[in-house]
This record gives sequence, structure tokens and C-alpha cells, in this order.
Amino acid sequence: MHVLEAQQFSREWLEGELFPLAERLARGELKEQRPLRDRRLFWLFYETSTRTRVSFESAMALLGGSASGLEVGAHGEELVSERLEDRVRVLNDYGYDFILLRYHQEGGARRAAAVSRVPIINAGDGAGQHPTQAMLDVFTVQQEIGRLDGLTVALVGDLTFERSTNSLAYLLTRFSDLRLYLVSPETLRVRSDVREYLAERDIRYQELRDLREVADKLDVVYVTRAHTGRLQHALRFDAADGFYSITREVLDRLPKHAIVMHPLPRGDELPPELDDDPRIACFRQARHGLAVRMALLCLLSPDRVSP
Ligand code: CP
Repeated sequence: MHVLEAQQFSREWLEGELFPLAERLARGELKEQRPLRDRRLFWLFYETSTRTRVSFESAMALLGGSASGLEVGAHGEELVSERLEDRVRVLNDYGYDFILLRYHQEGGARRAAAVSRVPIINAGDGAGQHPTQAMLDVFTVQQEIGRLDGLTVALVGDLTFERSTNSLAYLLTRFSDLRLYLVSPETLRVRSDVREYLAERDIRYQELRDLREVADKLDVVYVTRAHTGRLQHALRFDAADGFYSITREVLDRLPKHAIVMHPLPRGDELPPELDDDPRIACFRQARHGLAVRMALLCLLSPDRVSP
């Protein structure tokens, strides 16, 4: 099975398989079985990464497997020096069990999957999706808030070019009685494919420009970085300080039980000076990535985990 987009995954799979296994792995169970022994992962990254790449590498090592890889473009090489499809076809013949791909353009994971017998795991494709980020995000909400139904969530920032919020919006629709606030500058509104998906499923959502208007209603605020490098007009987003950032004022309005999430790396929208507030959950969120990715790799190797 390839892991390409968040819409592939059901509530039943998340709650019945992924999350229980992630909880067991987080407690240190199953590691002695070395469920990924002799399994090999290759990471092929066209953009840099700390969390995604290293958590998958660690997941393989901790469960008895191995990982190696290539950061394309890291040494001044042109990103398009070789066709993606050709690289993936070659890797298929080198005995890997998983190919973890981060591509700089939307659709990269799907292109790779079209020529791959080996499972492709989308580690982020341009402004498209980041499905394993959404898995760990939803797992974090479950761990922190204790439920996934009846949530009020604000997705904040660059909702046009941020793949994490695309995938999270899709995955949150799996749960009932969801209310979404989509907080962004007019120029960076949520993409039409996400909006249509929400509308088809009768998800209650509202688009607005100022997080402070709804902060007191929220269970989760998911704030993201401006992708100023991706498109020039995203620079306008930086200028709107306060509307799309976590500030003392936003924290004062936020309920006590609420959490602030961020996929990291962060920018000015989540100042480190606020980290002493226990509702800032971004580092706990990143930590959950290891257990969730260990569980995902085990589930992609179904013969390897005994109940
Ligand atoms: N959240 C996330 O994808 O982080 P990295 O870019 O470090 O992988």
C-alpha cells in the first residue's frame, strides 16, 4: 500500500489499528520483537527535513530495520537532474521495503507510486499533502484532549501552500461534530479541493482573518509558518502580525483545556517566549511523530507484529 494522501485513511483504521499500536510502541512494547528486522527504508528528499526524516530513520532503527537515503539538491545539484520516476524505478530494484519521498512539487508522491512496487510514503509533496504529519497531529489531539469528536479547531496561516493543514483538514473530517475555523489572509485562503471536500461532508466551517475573534471557542489552534520562500505574495502574510500568530492576547482568550499545535519548523507566528505556557503542544506533537511512524511502518509490514 502506498501512503499518498490523508483521505485514504478511515476512522476505523486510525482508532482501531494505528493509534493503539502507536500507544504500545510509545510505552516501549514490541521493540524486543524487532518487528522491522531486515526491513530497509530509503529516504529520497528534495527538500530538507528534521522531524519527518529523522523520526522515520529512528523508527526503523528502533524496530530492528535500517534506513539510508539521498537529499537531492543538497550539494548544488539541480533538482531535476534526473527524472523522479527513473530514480524510483532504480530504487525498486535495490531491495528496499519502503521509499519515503519528500518532493518539492505537488503530485510527486503519486508520480512515484505510479512506477513503484515498493510502498511510497509521501513525506510532503510541495503544497500538496503531508499525510503522516496529519496522522501524528490527530494522534496528538487524541492524547492531549482525550477525544476526537465534537472538536472546534482553528487552522491558521498560509492555508493555500501549507500541506500540513491540507492533510489535517481531510483527516479531521473522519470525526463527528467537527467545527473548523479557517484563519488566513484573503490571498492565502484554503484551497478549493479542501473546501469542496468539507462542503460535501457537511462539515461546519468558517473562513476568517483574525484568530482573536474565535480564540475563546477553540479546543485546538493549529498555527503554521508563512511559506515566504514558496511564493512572493506570501510575504503579505508576515505583515499581518497578530491576526495569524500566537500572542499573549490569543493565549489569554484561549480556554484552559485548549492546545496550540504547530508542525514545525516555526517562525514568528509562535514566539519561543510563549513556550512556558503548557498549552503550547508543538514539541509533544513532534515527539508523537516517532511512535506514530513506528506504528505506520509496522502496519505496512503486516506479517511482523504479533498482537
Ligand atoms: N513537520 C515537518 O514536516 O517537519 P520537517 O520539515 O522537519 O520534516
